Amino acid sequence: MELVEVCRDSQTKAVVNLHGATLQSWINNGEEMIFVSKDAVFNNVKAIRGGIPVVFPCFGAWDMGPQHGFARTSKWTCSKPPFMDESGNAVATFTLVDTEDTRKMWNGNKFEVNYTVVVKTDCLVTKFTVCNQNSMESFDFTCLLHTYFLLPDVSKTTISGLGGLLYVDKTDGGKEKTEESDPKTISQFTDSVYKNASKDHLLTNVAGGRTINIKKMNFPDTVVWNPWAEKAKAMADFGDDQYRNMV
Ligand code: BG6
Repeated sequence: MELVEVCRDSQTKAVVNLHGATLQSWINNGEEMIFVSKDAVFNNVKAIRGGIPVVFPCFGAWDMGPQHGFARTSKWTCSKPPFMDESGNAVATFTLVDTEDTRKMWNGNKFEVNYTVVVKTDCLVTKFTVCNQNSMESFDFTCLLHTYFLLPDVSKTTISGLGGLLYVDKTDGGKEKTEESDPKTISQFTDSVYKNASKDHLLTNVAGGRTINIKKMNFPDTVVWNPWAEKAKAMADFGDDQYRNMV
């Protein structure tokens, strides 16, 4: 594993694995906030089951390549190694550019993707930019920061900002539905893509009993996923009971 520690102080830091630029730990005031499966595989081939896998250039099933795209299984570089900014925050930037393999897979597209992680005293900031390096052609892409939040008990967690929204229910053949719960709780297999969701979500009862305020910019949709018991068992890299500890 090639790991980069983005450390503000001993109690407030993040660790990014260059495999996929997957942030696999965020410790805030001494508390781990991010879920990584106890059965996650760290072989620099498979996507890491947990952390914040970077999904690009396609969210979900992809007819040109692997589910969720190639970014989460590519080797990234640390283009700006960790440094302290003027406010004392720890900052690092990670970069992925096209290779022969990605060009073969994805219409010959040339690109540069930069992913910056900022560790502040009270929050983690992630910035994702995509630059088209083709000489003429545009390209379409989707991207997602597939954050696995660590929870003591999923049945006690609520998610605000989803009530009344249209969502695609991937557990029910992709039917479009309207979310009736506000805030939302999770008590079964859940795989919902909310369209044009709120820019803010409150996630309650995360690690340490805290509430996390998720603030998004230019990421219009929100995905809520929990595999629940049966699907968790079916995944070799996911502990059978660990669906209780993430969303
Ligand atoms: C979610 C998708 O974002 O990721 C689910 O909505 C998917 O459909 C889940 O099952 C996990 O995907 P993967 O490829 O990491 O097993």
